[in-house]
Amino acid sequence: MSELIEVSDSNIADTYARYPFMIERGEGLKIYDEKGRSFYDFFSGISVCSLGHCHPEVVEAVKNQAEKLFHVSNLYYTMPQTSLAKKLVDSSFADRVFFANSGAEANEAAIKLARKYGCDNYGIHKNKIITFLNSFHGRTLGTIAATGQDKIKKGFAPIPEGFDYAVFNDIESVKKLVSENTCAIMLEPVQGEGGVRPADKKFLKDLRELCDKNHILLIFDEIQTGIGRTGKLFCYENYDVVPDIMTLAKALGNGMPIGCMLASNHVMQSFGPGSHGTTFGGNPVSCAAADKVLEIIKRDNLCEKALEKGRYLLDLMMKLKEKHKIIKDVRGLGLLMGVELDENFDVSNLVKSFYEKGFLINIIQGHIIRLAPPLTIDTETMDMFAETADIVFGEF
Ligand SMILES: Cc1ncc(COP(=O)(O)O)c(C=O)c1O
Repeated sequence: MSELIEVSDSNIADTYARYPFMIERGEGLKIYDEKGRSFYDFFSGISVCSLGHCHPEVVEAVKNQAEKLFHVSNLYYTMPQTSLAKKLVDSSFADRVFFANSGAEANEAAIKLARKYGCDNYGIHKNKIITFLNSFHGRTLGTIAATGQDKIKKGFAPIPEGFDYAVFNDIESVKKLVSENTCAIMLEPVQGEGGVRPADKKFLKDLRELCDKNHILLIFDEIQTGIGRTGKLFCYENYDVVPDIMTLAKALGNGMPIGCMLASNHVMQSFGPGSHGTTFGGNPVSCAAADKVLEIIKRDNLCEKALEKGRYLLDLMMKLKEKHKIIKDVRGLGLLMGVELDENFDVSNLVKSFYEKGFLINIIQGHIIRLAPPLTIDTETMDMFAETADIVFGEF
């Protein structure tokens, strides 16, 4: 253990079981530690660095903006915010954007907007939100309340009220919870942290219909699925189901912290001056990075490429599933993939086995490998990963 890691361990809150590396720099598909060891990052800093680490054009955009203006608050117009908002609106169903700093904050804004819209249009009683078991929406009090996983709420009572939890992909379980008090249904089109589970097409279409019949807003949390990861700029495009509100974060800034909440004019008009706010949201440097990210994704056809590469990686993982009985299931959409392992195997050393061979992977729910490599990944690296996985799974 390096001395620096010891300093870090004794000074930083212990909320993460960190891997024993002091990461110094990143370049493309790889990150490097202080000792010069390199690792392929197969989950992009948790689905963030989709263009690879330190993409030169994003670095340039950040540098240029940092030399001009770091911060000015939301009391003034800025060029990076204006340009990014226009790109987001032009490429989505939405008419307006609210900028935040993170995914949880974007979801907080969505929850507040849905309640305000319910109250403005139907009365104060219309404030309940249906979310789903195994969902993940963030770590603030409001978003742990929205999250359908008890372990995330443990010890933090009182948890804010107003959420009911349905079973993902089960429309009947949703119908049972709908009442005249329901103002919104909120979900990830592919549950990420809960196990990489894509929604069924029919389920999302049924949800849309249910919402329309009952004056309920449909909120898609696209914090992980958005910005090309699932083969479309936004995952809802895979389903032909348009939400009323959408949240984004993670890959939007390729590592610069930014989140946002988008909605149609009709819904967003419930947010007037003073109804919601943030000091840093829409920070010029983060917006300049995100503006460049959207430009690159479009110019380099990275959505289509994510779909093709996703098929290639899925095929490699399927072949491994045929060979290794530890693999129970392989699923995903585009380059967001879950490799579910048999819970009867002890996988506590799995991450270590991979990083010792030069690959960083992420395990969720104790037994599911979440793969989310950069959209810029190439076939040789995916082949190398599959060869490594073949060796690692062979050890079980
Ligand atoms: C679907 C989803 N929603 C919300 C969040 C919270 O985002 P943040 O960690 O930026 O607050 C995450 C983070 O993993 C997420 O995957």
